[in-house]
Amino acid sequence: MAEAGTLHDAFIDELRDTYDAEKQLTKALPKLAKAATNAKLRAAFESHLKETEGQIVRLERVFESLDERVRGKHCDGIAGIIEEGKSIMEEDFDETTMDACLIAAGQRAEHYEMAAYGTLIAWAQAMGHTEAAKLLQQTLDEEKAADKKLSGLAEGGINQGAADAAHAEGEEESVGADASGASASGARKSSSKPGRR
Ligand SMILES: [Fe+2]
Ligand SMILES: [Fe+2]
Repeated sequence: MAEAGTLHDAFIDELRDTYDAEKQLTKALPKLAKAATNAKLRAAFESHLKETEGQIVRLERVFESLDERVRGKHCDGIAGIIEEGKSIMEEDFDETTMDACLIAAGQRAEHYEMAAYGTLIAWAQAMGHTEAAKLLQQTLDEEKAADKKLSGLAEGGINQGAADAAHAEGEEESVGADASGASASGARKSSSKPGRR
């Protein structure tokens, strides 16, 4: 009968999963960059691609520090997130809305990675793998910074730009509604909502 696996086995398994996830992301990030219209967003994806390549090398150092063979194991989680991102890119959205959606897709990946690295660091620390924990922490810091940068771009104009475009047609309507009882807006309102005046 096979011996039960230990936390060390689970740790190596998670490392392999994460190694594969990073590799998948090096293929996905160029696609996100290409689909982005906003220059800063494109640059953010491109610079995170460079970081991701470095994270792969860093994970190889983690394996070495543990005397483990460098090996990946297909990561279904990130594959699903990447698949969702691909579906979004196939949609026919206006440019700013697409940028907002690309950020949403990118942040899903970053949060997945943050969860993975958070666990890996905690386990490495618990088992006394100090060198591995230190290396993994450097990557976690990069993932957090990448996530923050995407939030900054979303909240710094892209979301509002997309929202303005979404409501551009109804703008006249809401301005009219604010002016007390303007009949033109009343007519527009009742035409869009039959049965109400
Ligand atoms: Fe990463
Ligand atoms: Fe990342």
